[in-house]
Amino acid sequence: MSTKQHYALVTGASSGIGLEFAWQLARGGYNLILVARNEAALNELAAQIHSETGVNVEVYARDLAKPNAAQALATDLGAGLRRVELLVNNAGFGLHGRFHELPMEGIAQMMQLNMNTLTELTYLCLPHMMQAMRGEIINIASVASFQPCPNFAVYAASKAYVLSFSEALNIELADAGIKVTAVCPGSTDTNFHNIAGTSHLRAVQLMDSPKKVVQLSLKAVRAGRASIVTGLSNKAIPLASRLLPRYLMGKTAQLLFKK
Ligand SMILES: NC(=O)c1ccc[n+]([C@@H]2O[C@H](COP(=O)([O-])OP(=O)(O)OC[C@H]3O[C@@H](n4cnc5c(N)ncnc54)[C@H](OP(=O)(O)O)[C@@H]3O)[C@@H](O)[C@H]2O)c1
Repeated sequence: MSTKQHYALVTGASSGIGLEFAWQLARGGYNLILVARNEAALNELAAQIHSETGVNVEVYARDLAKPNAAQALATDLGAGLRRVELLVNNAGFGLHGRFHELPMEGIAQMMQLNMNTLTELTYLCLPHMMQAMRGEIINIASVASFQPCPNFAVYAASKAYVLSFSEALNIELADAGIKVTAVCPGSTDTNFHNIAGTSHLRAVQLMDSPKKVVQLSLKAVRAGRASIVTGLSNKAIPLASRLLPRYLMGKTAQLLFKK
């Protein structure tokens, strides 16, 4: 594969699943545009990737939870945005706790990052993908997309949005040659649960590796799949959500994600 023409933009590339996307895409010959807040971590990663693989790596340290962050990033990228053939909307976080006890500012930032920025970046990348009649978009959702999740209420709702939005676009854009896939990981070995304050919960102890999640994600988007649940045991969740009342799914999640 040429290392000159192919560009991927990965949000949340400074750690976890996004960092693994950066490595696997670079090894597959993609030049990279990496975005997250931690500039030092992004620069270190960029240097390592460039020295090991030789691909070009550009770093944009941005807080994507700010309103209009996607448009501001697009403005800074300028014509560079037109090079993006693969968009990985991965940056996201979860706030665990009873809804009314969480800080509203944090809830608003989570909604902005998990839904609005993801939607806006997709919107901004589509015109040139439509023109080229090709492009791939991976949106990171979650197994939490399939059920109401007490004590993770807004996070799970934001991921339900990502799943529904991606599945709709997958159909809508198929005749334009653009593939859109929602990836629904279960518990994965990253900083996510440390940040959410859920790493002590038994429900999250069985973890997949980011490596596996990314391998399956890339395979799924290439195959044009609308969504994929990574990890064998996690596949029980969408199945159960089709068979059981949503109330029961919610009560089970409440037990698993007890505050
Ligand atoms: N790990 C799991 O168990 C799990 C399960 C299902 C779904 N997911 C989803 O997987 C995605 C990746 O998370 P992860 O598991 O890899 O967790 P992680 O290790 O905490 O990585 C999250 C990434 O998002 C970036 N990010 C967070 N807030 C940001 C902001 N305001 N602006 C820009 N970037 C921001 C972080 O970078 P900076 O801190 O440098 O900004 C980091 O690179 C998320 O969407 C998450 O919801 C994770």
